[in-house]
Amino acid sequence: MTAFSTALKERGHRRDIIDGLISEDINEFVTILSPGLDVSVDRLREIIRANRDTIIRTVTQRGVLVFRGFTGIDSKTFNRLILDDLAFISNNAFNLKNVPGFMASWLRKYSESLVGGDYRRYLDRNTVRLGPAADSVQGPHTEGGVCSEKSRFIALCCLEPAEHLGETGICDFSDIWNKLPPAQKERYQTASNLYAYTTRRRIHWFDRLMLRYSPYTVSTLLSGKAELALPPCPFVVKHPETNQLCIQPWAFAKNTNGSVQRMAQATFQKRGPLTKDCTAEELNMNWRLCDSNGEIIKWDEKDHDEFFQLIFENAYLMQWEKGDVAIVDNVKCGHWRMNGKQGDRKIIQIQANHFNADDHRP
Ligand SMILES: [Fe+2]
Repeated sequence: MTAFSTALKERGHRRDIIDGLISEDINEFVTILSPGLDVSVDRLREIIRANRDTIIRTVTQRGVLVFRGFTGIDSKTFNRLILDDLAFISNNAFNLKNVPGFMASWLRKYSESLVGGDYRRYLDRNTVRLGPAADSVQGPHTEGGVCSEKSRFIALCCLEPAEHLGETGICDFSDIWNKLPPAQKERYQTASNLYAYTTRRRIHWFDRLMLRYSPYTVSTLLSGKAELALPPCPFVVKHPETNQLCIQPWAFAKNTNGSVQRMAQATFQKRGPLTKDCTAEELNMNWRLCDSNGEIIKWDEKDHDEFFQLIFENAYLMQWEKGDVAIVDNVKCGHWRMNGKQGDRKIIQIQANHFNADDHRP
C-alpha cells in the first residue's frame, strides 16, 4: 500500500490516504475507503483500475474493504467495477456453468422446489439480488461453503439500505479459530463438514435426470423422498495468502438452526424477538462433522451453542449505506444477514474467482 499511501494516525486507529481516498481501519478486519472531492463512480473506476493489486492484497490481509461515499452506482456499474476494473472472474457457486440469468433463476427455483432455499434472483448471469431481511438472523457462512468449490471473494453492493437494521454480520474466521479452546481445535483441525439434504417431496424421473448432473449422492428413502449427500468439505482451511487457519461453516442446517437463533437472541440484545431462519428451517439439511477417516465426530448442541456464541460475540454488523461497495475475502471472513425491516433493501452480490477448499486443508 505504501506506493499510494501516506499514513495518518487518528482516533487510535490507522488512517491512510490511498490515491486520494481516505482509508480507515474501523476494526481488526474491516477497512473503509471514502473519496476526497470527486465522488463520481468514474473516479472510483479509475482508482480501482490503478490500484487493483493493492486492493486485492488489502482484502486478503484485512478481510473486508468497503468503498463508501461514491454516487451513481447501479447494478451495471457495480458489474463493471468488479469484473472489468478489478478484473475479478465471476464464479457463482449456483451458476458455475455460467448460464444466462433467466435460466439460472429457473434452476434456482427448481432446486428450491426440491430441497428449499434462500430467495435470491439473478439480475444477470453474474449478479444476484440477496434475499429480504426479516425477523431472523441467518447462520454464519462463507458464500457457497456447502461445497469445497466456491468463490475466493464476494463483492456486495448496496443499492438501497433496509428501512431498519438489516445489516450484514461479518466475522473474521481466522480470529475465531484462534479463540477456540485447544480441545476443540484438536478435534476440528482435520475435520470435514458433511451436509445432507432430505428432499421436500418424493422424487420422480425428471429429478433423477437432473440429479445425475449434480454433486449429490442420491439415496431413495422408503417414503419416496431422497437423501442428497454432498461430498465432505473441510471444516478448517489454511488461508492461501496469510497461512492462518480459518473455520469454514455453512450454518443453514436444520440441526443447528435452533442454536443459531438462541445464540443470536442472547448476543444481539435489543433487536426484538428473533425467529428461526426460514431458509434453514425449509432446507431440511443435516450438518455433521467427520474426521479424516470419515468417522463421525462429536458436534452436538453444546458445541453448536459455544461455536455460534463465539462468532456472534466477535461480529461486526455492517450498516449499509446507499452506494456501498464491499469486497470480502470469502475464506477469511464469514457473513450472515441480520434481522430488520426490509423496506426497499436491495443488496446485490457477485461471487468471484474460483477456490477449492480441498487444496487448502491444514
Ligand atoms: Fe451469504
